[in-house]
Amino acid sequence: MCGIVGYIGHRDAQSIILKGLQRLEYRGYDSAGIALFDGKNINITKTKGKVSDLDNKINNLKFRGSQIGIGHTRWATHGIPNDVNSHPHCSNSGEIVLIHNGIIENYAAIKTELINRGYSFKSETDTEVLVNLIEDIQKSGNYMLGKAVQIALNQVVGAYAIAVFDTKKPNEIIVAKLGSPLAIGVGKDEFFIASDASPFIEYTNNAVYLEDEEMAIIRLHKEARYRKIKSDTLFDPYIQKLKLNIEQIEKGGYDHFMLKEIFEQPKAIVDTYRGRLSVNQGLIKMAGVEDYIEKFLSAEKITVVACGTSWHAGLVGEYIFETLARIPVEVEYASEFRYRDPIITKKDIVIAISQSGETADTLAAIKLAKKHGAFVFGICNVVGSSISRETDAGAYTHAGPEIGVASTKAFTTQITLLTIIALRLAKAKGTISQTNYKKYLVELENIPSKIEKVLEANPGVEKIAKIYKDASNFLYLGRGFNFPVALEGALKLKEISYIHAEGYPAAEMKHGPIALIDENMPIVVIATKYGHYEKIVSNIQEIKSRKGKVICIVTEGDTQVKEIADHVIEVPLSSELLSPLLTTIPMQLLSYYIAVLLDKNVDQPRNLAKSVTVE
Ligand code: M6R
Repeated sequence: MCGIVGYIGHRDAQSIILKGLQRLEYRGYDSAGIALFDGKNINITKTKGKVSDLDNKINNLKFRGSQIGIGHTRWATHGIPNDVNSHPHCSNSGEIVLIHNGIIENYAAIKTELINRGYSFKSETDTEVLVNLIEDIQKSGNYMLGKAVQIALNQVVGAYAIAVFDTKKPNEIIVAKLGSPLAIGVGKDEFFIASDASPFIEYTNNAVYLEDEEMAIIRLHKEARYRKIKSDTLFDPYIQKLKLNIEQIEKGGYDHFMLKEIFEQPKAIVDTYRGRLSVNQGLIKMAGVEDYIEKFLSAEKITVVACGTSWHAGLVGEYIFETLARIPVEVEYASEFRYRDPIITKKDIVIAISQSGETADTLAAIKLAKKHGAFVFGICNVVGSSISRETDAGAYTHAGPEIGVASTKAFTTQITLLTIIALRLAKAKGTISQTNYKKYLVELENIPSKIEKVLEANPGVEKIAKIYKDASNFLYLGRGFNFPVALEGALKLKEISYIHAEGYPAAEMKHGPIALIDENMPIVVIATKYGHYEKIVSNIQEIKSRKGKVICIVTEGDTQVKEIADHVIEVPLSSELLSPLLTTIPMQLLSYYIAVLLDKNVDQPRNLAKSVTVE
């Protein structure tokens, strides 16, 4: 769960790498480092903290002008975040320099062997073991660096995306991948290396995404050579044309990426259904589903595997699929699914949901499902990600880059896509009337403009945030389709404001959480018109009798809840099925404003990373 960047070419490597690392900080941000080489001298600077701290440190030292370099932003696995454990790591001779994203699982055994052979270690990392293993192999067999890297990688167990160079051969960087992503930007007489394409999009739109167990030897003024690590065969890579542009990965005038992404949701949802939904013709067309429609229709059950916010979207999906298409759905935490003995057969469909497409637990769950013979369908946002490649078929949400660690537009676009798939299957199965089918198509098409309206109520949410920002606990309650939204609301608040929050189905409150309620407890309740409205009103009464402070999300024009709640936030009228796309918006805003008022780092909350590529 780290970000790596490398450069070899005619530009100033330092500025490219520092800017690139900043774009990759979503992958980890507890320490950072850079190695710059001008052909004679190597400068390695490392620091605990963020890339901006590294930038300050390095600018005091002035290493401008190097045309080869590698850099790293870290999310600690082996060893605490400090200067010594930061990457790059050097071999004992100081000649080989390496950055690594991943985990070397058998590092302890290799380390013991290397110590017996006279090697010493400064850090607690698995990466320092790998760089010394490469050096040991290189020296003992008098190998070129590429060969030594290849032999070493055949000895390690685990996951890696690495970039490594040898100061004795200043015009070459070796990269390799297994389990962690690695993209190579191919420019004119220059190459970029990164965990994703964002560090190099302003320089080239030609990218090679290495597959697992592939490596490349990148040399200045020469063609790169691509090789399979295990079989030792050379291959020609597929050069992908990137569609990403620089505006998509910048804040565009917003204070934080999270706020930008909240406000992008109307457009993101349109991008999700564009080309898939034709309201006039009453048609839904999705290649990934059409090609396998028989499989979907004959499925005995659907199991959704996902983590975090994507898991919450899966829960909303369960309600949607079962209501519309009458297919039984189970939603599992990928991290649990992968380590139990799930009952999955080839008659099952597994839907894996992941914004990043890189979540380690979700990837492992997919592999297990495939082993059981299930057909695996992926719902991802990041194009070309590991999950999108590992699944049998799938569909992209097309939400655009989500950079804030707290997922917002990923959630609503995942729900949009699940709705479209469920409607398509319901139509094919005949489990929906033509009137309802048409009604949902029209309603889905109108959701973006309704979200615009919710976003206009933004100042009201900020006022509520000011009142409750110092609360120590929050409860979030919802029923039916909005129960998962309550879970998601609580997760948003926890992760960016560090306030304890719990989501519950509203009726479960009386089985325990009601004991927590007193005048200091704010409770966010989703009380929209359709979906157990009267029952929710009773739940609100129960809270008020215990002096809890109630913040309600209600349908425009509601009068009954307004009478009893402390605060209301209105959303436009919608069917219960599509209401999560609206009710989630005020919750995102509430968490955002509370975190800002508490002066928290909204886009990079402590201990978290955007892509969780470790289990
Ligand atoms: O990339 P994924 O959707 O697979 O990520 C899953 C979770 O790590 C992610 O949703 C996480 O819970 C977010 N920080 C929530 O805002």
